[in-house]
Amino acid sequence: MSATATPELKNSGLQGQVAGKTAICAVNQTELIYRGYEIADLAANATFEEVAYLLLIGAKPSASELASFKKELIAERQLPALVTEVIRKTATLPNAVPMDILRTAVSVLGHLDPQCQDVSKEADLAKAKRLTAKIPTIIGHMQNVIDGRDIVEPDPSLDHAANLLYMMTGTKPSAEAAHVMDVSLVLYAEHDFNASTFTTRVIAGTLSDMHGAVAGGIAALKGPLHGGANEAAMDMLKEIKVDTASGTMNVEQWMQRAFTEKRKLMGFGHRVYKNGDHRATILNDLGRAVAEKQGPDSTKWFDMGDQVQAIMLRDKNIFPNVDFPCGMTYFVMGIPVPQYTPIFVASRITGWAAHIIEQHSNNKLIRPIAEYVGPTNLRWK
Ligand SMILES: CC(C)(COP(=O)(O)OP(=O)(O)OC[C@H]1O[C@@H](n2cnc3c(N)ncnc32)[C@H](O)[C@@H]1OP(=O)(O)O)[C@@H](O)C(=O)NCCC(=O)NCCS
Repeated sequence: MSATATPELKNSGLQGQVAGKTAICAVNQTELIYRGYEIADLAANATFEEVAYLLLIGAKPSASELASFKKELIAERQLPALVTEVIRKTATLPNAVPMDILRTAVSVLGHLDPQCQDVSKEADLAKAKRLTAKIPTIIGHMQNVIDGRDIVEPDPSLDHAANLLYMMTGTKPSAEAAHVMDVSLVLYAEHDFNASTFTTRVIAGTLSDMHGAVAGGIAALKGPLHGGANEAAMDMLKEIKVDTASGTMNVEQWMQRAFTEKRKLMGFGHRVYKNGDHRATILNDLGRAVAEKQGPDSTKWFDMGDQVQAIMLRDKNIFPNVDFPCGMTYFVMGIPVPQYTPIFVASRITGWAAHIIEQHSNNKLIRPIAEYVGPTNLRWK
């Protein structure tokens, strides 16, 4: 629940302000580029491992560079026993949600990492690879514990996205499911100075360590105004389905009620993209293709999503962001809703780590100033 706003404390949220320089990513209405490559090109032609290499190392890998990078990731997938134990314990706590369990597990990984306190470029890169490799395993083990199944260990024969899906279920995914997951990881990998990445840079800017910065990034990403929107968008569609199932209300009426209540619709709007999110159409098309193969029980979500999107555009001129199709896509793939944002982390870890390395290598403490609007001239005695 949010507190009542105080008018004199209304903030711009730094909207439109340049807060620093980066050579990693550019986000604007006409393009989204990772180190010079356009997102549609990467989504169509690059794998997640290639994009991870591009972001972390700074250039497209050669075939041999990619092969050794993949080998390094596969070799680092296993979790220390203590981390699995912590996942087991925290997953049964009444207030623990998957994003919090993931945050705690990343903190524990920091305690066990021999280079935890080393903020040199070499140490940061080694830790970035370890975190990229291990975060899917944290998600998989956590889902195994939640489902009450034996822990599914990583399968070295599977690529990153396929292995993530496999560890969550114990079943090898279809080629299509692995591909859709892979593309979603490519789309989520990086997005310049978004809230969570900026958080990681602020933490890294004090010369604090990568695991701490990533734990902060996870906390920032969890919120429904940021990464948590992919879960919230699907929860909203489920709510619309329940409310319209009785026949007393249709989607149009549900939306008009939401507008009257001044409700924020999850998976819509964006701080930078005011005319559409480059990533949303790519994921919507892939998700709908999965749904169409499954039949009407799956396509109904995309049909409802189309209606919601059309009404938002007609009445509010607000476009969906990537989290809206992501919610529906992961849902028809059978992924439990509370794992959508942890999966976002499994991708964004590469962008965060690239920014932490960039910040540490070109460091200047991030410390803006505030405009004071509080009382003055008060006396204690
Ligand atoms: C992402 C978000 C925080 C960006 O916010 P922002 O740049 O600060 O823009 P604002 O929230 O000030 O929105 C501007 C206007 O559009 C409206 N608006 C923006 N997103 C909206 C949404 N999802 N549903 C309904 N109205 C929305 C606001 O109410 C505001 O209207 P007003 O000027 O009449 O008050 C915002 O669009 C949002 O909350 N979206 C839902 C959460 C979400 O999907 N987050 C994932 C982002 S990738």
